[in-house]
Amino acid sequence: MAIDPRLELQTFLFLLYHRLITESQPPDQAIGGFLRKCKVRGGARGFLASASFALLRKRVRLRILWLGKGDFSHSSPTEEAACAIWRWFREDMANPIEECMASTRAVLGEAASMSPKYHVEFDADQLMNRVHEFAERVFEGTAESGLNPELRRAARYSISPEILSRWWERFGEEEAALLAESMTSKTPLDIRANEHLASTEKVLMALNEEGLEAMPSRFSPDGIRLEKKAALQHLEMTKAGWIEVQDEGSQLVCHALEPKSGWRVLDACAGGGGKTVHLGSMLAKDGQVYAHDIDASRLESVAKRVIHAQLENVRTLDPGTGDRHGPYDAVLIDAPCLGLGRLRRDPTLNWQGPIAERLDEATHAQRQCLNEYSKLVKPGGVLVYATCSIEPEETSEMIEWFLRDNPEFRRSELPATFQKPSFNPADGGEVSEVTLLPHIHETDGFYIARLEKVPD
Ligand SMILES: C[S@@+](CC[C@H](N)C(=O)[O-])C[C@H]1O[C@@H](n2cnc3c(N)ncnc32)[C@H](O)[C@@H]1O
Repeated sequence: MAIDPRLELQTFLFLLYHRLITESQPPDQAIGGFLRKCKVRGGARGFLASASFALLRKRVRLRILWLGKGDFSHSSPTEEAACAIWRWFREDMANPIEECMASTRAVLGEAASMSPKYHVEFDADQLMNRVHEFAERVFEGTAESGLNPELRRAARYSISPEILSRWWERFGEEEAALLAESMTSKTPLDIRANEHLASTEKVLMALNEEGLEAMPSRFSPDGIRLEKKAALQHLEMTKAGWIEVQDEGSQLVCHALEPKSGWRVLDACAGGGGKTVHLGSMLAKDGQVYAHDIDASRLESVAKRVIHAQLENVRTLDPGTGDRHGPYDAVLIDAPCLGLGRLRRDPTLNWQGPIAERLDEATHAQRQCLNEYSKLVKPGGVLVYATCSIEPEETSEMIEWFLRDNPEFRRSELPATFQKPSFNPADGGEVSEVTLLPHIHETDGFYIARLEKVPD
């Protein structure tokens, strides 16, 4: 007998969530792999991708209500997945309480019959007992009322208590609450026009002709924002290399360099090349971009992206040779960091270990990058340091540390794009560093500092 398609999808959601919390793969890869395995098509794929992501977003909340604590050491993935599905029926789908229990029971029964294919072993009755206990505590309100204020706050925003405590201390209650709210809200879809092939106006017109609601970005000159998600991969303009999906904050990092005609620019921590291709496009008429990363495997996608964007001015440096081809007119250090500015896009950042340990590791790498790549800046040249993090240790304090030890560098005013009231420093001085915040700038959280090497 064919099973109810809704039940089948809900069962896949349980199995997919289980996979997401047990595998170390990034969520998008794990979701892609699962969707290929369960062979669902069309709208069902979209549902599973977005619902499983929404479940991950609520994972901190779920674990705090379920276990009464905010750490990720206790692990019973089947029990967690079962409680997560129950919470989803109850809180996200707003189903009546008895229905939630019946639906969870049906999902577990169906999942048990599929378990050999998906390698998930469990006793459905035993799991239902655990769900019952959890549901009772949620229903009676004791799951929430028994929490201390910090855990209650973390459950409310579904953000790790450790991260929230840092933000509350730094920003104060009112602003921290706005920041936390924005880090759990849906993200807009930002794209960048590849102005080497099509102007921002031309792309905007083409998007409107496709019936998509698009508008120029608030700050980034070549940025475009779509309020609703769209299947851009099917558009001719995407195939032709006119656009790149890129958060506006990330676009602004390249605008901070303000590369001039004829410049040679080093993207020292190029990773997958998001900023390399942007710089390549900005310098397509006259200028050269060099992409470098300590991890050669991260550079693998750069060549493909460069071809797609029809750029002929980008060269990838072999991390093994040690020849960095300096000095450069400008060096970008898009430094390895905790990445907490991207929390709204990647909820897994909530459970990657104690912040203090991660900061030790990241700040060590940042100092190394600043020491090494600043040497490649020409006298009179530009150094831009950026992170998709807003934590002071790896942003403003890192730059203060660097400037103390390197008197040949000084702060440099950011270009006109950044001369806007929302970037003005409290002391009224010039804007040489900015912290982008999602609740103010509607971008991912980023830090950008522009320095220059004193001319000889
Ligand atoms: C924030 S990611 C870069 C993202 C990339 N710029 C983009 O726009 O897609 C940081 C990168 O720094 C690299 N990295 C870490 N330590 C490094 C070092 N000492 N030298 C160069 N790259 C380094 C990492 O491999 C990682 O790819």
